[in-house]
Amino acid sequence: MIFITATSFASMTTLAHSEVANPVVKARMAAMSDIGASMKTLGKMVKGEADFDAMAAQAAVDTVAARAEAAPELFEPKETDPESEALPAIWDNWDDFVTKAEALQTTAEGITITAAADLGPAMGQLGDACKACHSKYKE
Ligand code: HEC
Repeated sequence: MIFITATSFASMTTLAHSEVANPVVKARMAAMSDIGASMKTLGKMVKGEADFDAMAAQAAVDTVAARAEAAPELFEPKETDPESEALPAIWDNWDDFVTKAEALQTTAEGITITAAADLGPAMGQLGDACKACHSKYKE
């Protein structure tokens, strides 16, 4: 019975991270992927690979804020998976991890993109918040 349930779940979720069996891990990785994709959107505009689009850039920043806000809830269960890059230190330093997620959220919420010149500083600020967490809590 358990086997059948697991199999049908796996066949339902064949989008990104299809190799990740644990649905909790998959959800938190998907949130991080959204954050990464948003940073890529900004990065392309900074490099001139995409035309500056204030609304698209702001939407990307807003996505970062929303996923950062969701991170504490998504990461709270101490789950793992062979594909996960999350370090056990997260759950040993839970309050600090939450503080770092909130820092990213607050940073993103404080960013308003109105001109192409806003992109570089925005990426710098956001990037610092990514690094602060990844350096301690991600492989
Ligand atoms: C509060 C901590 C924290 C912050 C802040 C954070 N991350 Fe992460 N991130 C993680 C952890 C932990 C993982 C590993 C998750 C796993 O594999 O289970 C991760 C994984 C990722 C991944 C890989 C996702 C995948 O598909 O496996 C990307 C991309 C990523 N983060 C991008 C970013 C970017 C860009 C930022 C900043 C804008 C950011 N993260 C901010 C903790 C954080």
